[in-house]
Amino acid sequence: MLRLARTIFGLIFGWLVAAVLAVFGRFQQGGPMAAKTQRRTFVRNATLSATAATLGVLGAGFGLLMWPNKTGAFGSEVTVPDSEIPPVKGTPFRNIQGKFYLVHNEDGLLALYQKCPHLGCTVPWVGPWDSPEAFHCPCHGSMYDHNGTRTGGPAPRSMDLMKVTVEKDNTVKVDTGAITERAKYQKSQATPFTA
Ligand code: FES
Repeated sequence: MLRLARTIFGLIFGWLVAAVLAVFGRFQQGGPMAAKTQRRTFVRNATLSATAATLGVLGAGFGLLMWPNKTGAFGSEVTVPDSEIPPVKGTPFRNIQGKFYLVHNEDGLLALYQKCPHLGCTVPWVGPWDSPEAFHCPCHGSMYDHNGTRTGGPAPRSMDLMKVTVEKDNTVKVDTGAITERAKYQKSQATPFTA
């Protein structure tokens, strides 16, 4: 759908440029010397057409660059549907596009960045909830508890956090562009949530 919109934008932009240049070309025609300069007119019109086509392609490219790409994906704010919010001590919800786990502990919600702070592998949830290796990185064995606190392995710190916001209507949003590092879990890191 997005590609179709981009293509239409490029075509419309190109058509507009071509129309403007065609009008400009017409204004240049006529006058007493017009009949004698047919060849020059042909060359000029061909040049204008080529220019219009080139500008159309550039317009399409510009549209591609300016179009927002990150809606709902990593780097932007992601809304977590009610149905995906885990119960307290439930299996964390994983958002693949946003690259985070939403953990619900006794203090509230935590969004853990899935990227291992060691060398960047994706850390899977393996559970169970009370295990010191509830998150276990398969690459070099770093281990984290359910709050993402490092409990072993070569990782230099605990799993990073993303900012969680709970709005008045209980809508949960995770800002995947706001990532912070921390040494270990503290209660203040959790965003209170009441279902
Ligand atoms: S990348 Fe996770 S332990 Fe090395």
